[in-house]
Amino acid sequence: MTTSSAPGKVYLFGEHAVVYGEPAVPCAIERRARVTVEARADDRLQVQANDLTLDGFTVTWGGDADDRPDVDVPAPLVEAAMGYIDGAVEQAREAADAPEAGFDVTIESEIPLGAGLGSSAAVVVACIDAATRELGVELDAATIADRAFQVEYEVQDGEASRADTFCSAMGGAVHVQGDDCRRLTDVPNLPFVVGYDGGTGDTGELVAGVRALREEYGFAADTVAAIGDIVRRGKGALDEDDVEEVGRLMDFNHGLLSALGVSSRSLDAMVWAAREADALGAKLTGAGGGGCVVALDRTEQTLTALEYTPGCEEAFRAELDTDGVRAER
Ligand code: PMV
Repeated sequence: MTTSSAPGKVYLFGEHAVVYGEPAVPCAIERRARVTVEARADDRLQVQANDLTLDGFTVTWGGDADDRPDVDVPAPLVEAAMGYIDGAVEQAREAADAPEAGFDVTIESEIPLGAGLGSSAAVVVACIDAATRELGVELDAATIADRAFQVEYEVQDGEASRADTFCSAMGGAVHVQGDDCRRLTDVPNLPFVVGYDGGTGDTGELVAGVRALREEYGFAADTVAAIGDIVRRGKGALDEDDVEEVGRLMDFNHGLLSALGVSSRSLDAMVWAAREADALGAKLTGAGGGGCVVALDRTEQTLTALEYTPGCEEAFRAELDTDGVRAER
């Protein structure tokens, strides 16, 4: 039996624009997905998820069976969850040259599913690490990031950047532009506060929406390019330890994401609650449509304001997690 964990993330800047080659800065947070795998005698997969969203679901598949779990969550989420695990196990089989390997997989995740905190990337990264180690092979974090990206790319029909998977595998704050991914060193202390509306956004649909706008309107393409400018300025502000400027740029980034149609009433309500509580900055994180916002605040005010904001189901402080994927006992 082998257990690995990997962190979720927030986007400080750059989601959506990163899909078109602009840079992005995701940051790993101390909310983890833990995946335990145990080799089976056959080539099947049994998955048990004790996820915040897929609580207590168990499903076995592989071989001849055409299993579909009977659980009370939207079918596309379950299909996607199964696709991610299937893909991660396939990567592990390939890396360990064990095409017939079967596993019992248990997922315990502190990261809400489909809420912009990179839950799928964390599960895939941890699963590849645990399954390869269970088969006696150790992969380095960069190789795991690369294999995890292949899985996301396939499950998301090509609409995936390397941002989530690289950030989860490496930990810390990272800078991603196309295939160029690196970890940022010496980032200032970033006092993250996360607000979660309990909902999810459909990443594929939201990415397709931005793509259509970008193709139809020159000013939408300019908006995407302007997000790239914000990220470049934001990277400079991080280098100079200017957290106030980072906050202002986050506010601007949210405005542009909103113009691209990927915010929502509850995300905007949480962003405004954070702003009125004197957060240094606040924006949605991830694909949008619903899910989470991230704010920067050194005081307790934003956390308290979010707790009282209608539509905010949960608010929590999140520390930057400098650890990426790691073995657990
Ligand atoms: O909501 P998430 O965590 O799946 O993030 C999606 C981020 C996008 O930039 C919209 C897509 C991507 O793969 O980068």
